Amino acid sequence: MVAKRVSYKQIQLQQSRMDDCANRVNLFRDKYKLPIYTLRLPGSRLYVINDTGLIPVLQRQIRTLSISPIIVRIFSHFMGISEPALDIMGRDPIEDSGFVHQMTIGTTKGLAPGPNLDDLNAKAVNILNASLEHTPTRVKMFQWASHEIMMATTNAVYGPRNPFKDPAVRAAYYKLEGGLLTLVTGFLPSLVAREALKARRIITEAFVKYFAENSLEEASVYARNRYQYPSSLGVPVEDIAKMETGGSIGLISNTMPATFWTLYHIFSDPAVLEDCHEEVKKAVRERGGENYLDLAYVKSCCPLLVSTMQEAFRVHSIGMSVRAVVEDHLLGGEYLLKKGSTVLIPSTVQHNSSTAWGKNANDFYHKRFLKKPKTKHNPVAFRAFGGGSTLCPGRHFATTEILAFASIILLRFDIKPVKGPWDTKLYKETNAAFRIPNHDIDVELFLRDCRKWHIIFSEPGKPMEISTEDLPSTSKEA
Ligand code: HEM
Repeated sequence: MVAKRVSYKQIQLQQSRMDDCANRVNLFRDKYKLPIYTLRLPGSRLYVINDTGLIPVLQRQIRTLSISPIIVRIFSHFMGISEPALDIMGRDPIEDSGFVHQMTIGTTKGLAPGPNLDDLNAKAVNILNASLEHTPTRVKMFQWASHEIMMATTNAVYGPRNPFKDPAVRAAYYKLEGGLLTLVTGFLPSLVAREALKARRIITEAFVKYFAENSLEEASVYARNRYQYPSSLGVPVEDIAKMETGGSIGLISNTMPATFWTLYHIFSDPAVLEDCHEEVKKAVRERGGENYLDLAYVKSCCPLLVSTMQEAFRVHSIGMSVRAVVEDHLLGGEYLLKKGSTVLIPSTVQHNSSTAWGKNANDFYHKRFLKKPKTKHNPVAFRAFGGGSTLCPGRHFATTEILAFASIILLRFDIKPVKGPWDTKLYKETNAAFRIPNHDIDVELFLRDCRKWHIIFSEPGKPMEISTEDLPSTSKEA
C-alpha cells in the first residue's frame, strides 16, 4: 500500500548520444554508488539501474515494467507508421494478444534454434565465404567487415531480390542509422532529421517494390513471418515496409561493429591470434584437395574464439535496455517507480563493473568467458543482448555469423595494418548499441592457404550459451 520512502539522487542529464550517455552513467555509478537513481529530464523521469541484483527482479515484472509502450513509440516516431496502421499496431500493447507481443513471437520463430535458423545461418556463412574469393588485398577494415556482414545478412534474410543490393539503399541505411536517436525523440524531425527522413523514404520505397514483386517467396521464414502477421491484420503494405525499414537497424547495426571488434582483437594481439588460430585449425577437414570448415565444431569446441567474441561484446556494447513503468511499482519491495517513468539498464554500467567482472574489468581479456577454469563473473552482468522477455532473438544468428566470418578469415588470411601499429584511436559517437572506431584502419590481407574453402555444419545447430538465459538454470541469476 504505502511505498517505502526512497532517497534517489537527482541528476541532470542533457540529451546526448549513446557513447556520451555510456560515459556519464558510468561516472554517476562511481560517484554516487547507488543501486538505482533518478534522472530528471523536462517532463519525464528516468530510473537508472546500477545494481546487477535488481536486473532479474525488474525483468520478472513483464507487464508493470514493459517495453511495449516504447515499441509503439518507435513505430510512430522512428518508423513513421501511419495513424490507421498505428490503430492496429498499437492496440493492447501490454496484452499477450496485442500486436507487439504477437509480432515478437513471429519474429522469434524464424530465429530460434532449429531448421529455420540453420537454413538462415548456412546461407549467410556461405555468402560470406564466397565473397572472400573476390576480396581485395587492401581494405579499410571497418568498412569492409561492415559491408560483408550487411550483404551476407540481408541476402540470407531477403533472398535474391534483397533491397540492400541497391547501393542507394545501402547509403540510405547509414543515414537512417545516424538519425536513429534524433527520430526516436520525435522533436521536430522535419527540421532536425531531414536526411534521416529522406533515407527512410528511400528504403521504404525499396521494400514496397520488394513486396509488390512477390520477392518474399524466395526469402527466409523470418522475413515472411514479419510480413504475414501485420498483413493478416490489414496493416497497409506501405506501413509494413516502414516497419521492415526500421527492423533493418536491429538486423545489421550491431552485427557489423561486433564483427569488426572481434576481428580487431583477434588480429591485433599475437597471443589471441595464436590461441584462436590453433583452435580453428582443428575444425578443418581436407577432402580431394579442398578444405571443409566445420562450423558446428567451431561453435562447440573452440572456447577461446567464442570467449574472444563475447569479450568483444562486453567491452564494446553500449546499448541500454528500456522499460516503461505502466503502474506505480515498488521494485524489490524497496524502490518506488512512478507510473509514466522509464527505467534504463545501461550495458556499460554492468560491463565494466569490477564487482561483476573482477579487478581487470577494464581490460580486454580474451579468456574471460572460458568455463574452465571456472570463471567467477556474474552472468547476469552480460547485457550485450539485453535480457528477460526482450532478450535479443537474433543472438544465435548473429553470433554464428560472426564466428563463421572470424574463423574462415583466420584460416584463409593473416591481416596486418598497412602502416604502423594496430590502433583505433578511441571511439566515434554512435547511435547504435555498439561502439564504432574513431577512424578506420587500412589493412592488408595476406593469403595463408589458397585452396578452395567450404563451410559445413556436421550437425544441426545447437544453441550456444551466450546470454544468462542460455545457461543451464542452476547458474542463472547468480
Ligand atoms: C551482435 C548482434 C546483435 C546484438 C548485440 C543485438 C542486441 C540486441 C539488444 C541489446 C536488444 C534489446 C534487448 C532488451 O531490450 O532487453 C535486441 C533486441 C532485438 N534484436 Fe538484436 N542484436 C543483435 C543482432 C540481431 C539480429 C541479427 C536480429 C535479427 C535477425 C536481431 C533482432 C532483434 C529483435 C527483433 C529484437 C527485439 C526483441 C523484443 O523487443 O522482444 N538482433 N537486440
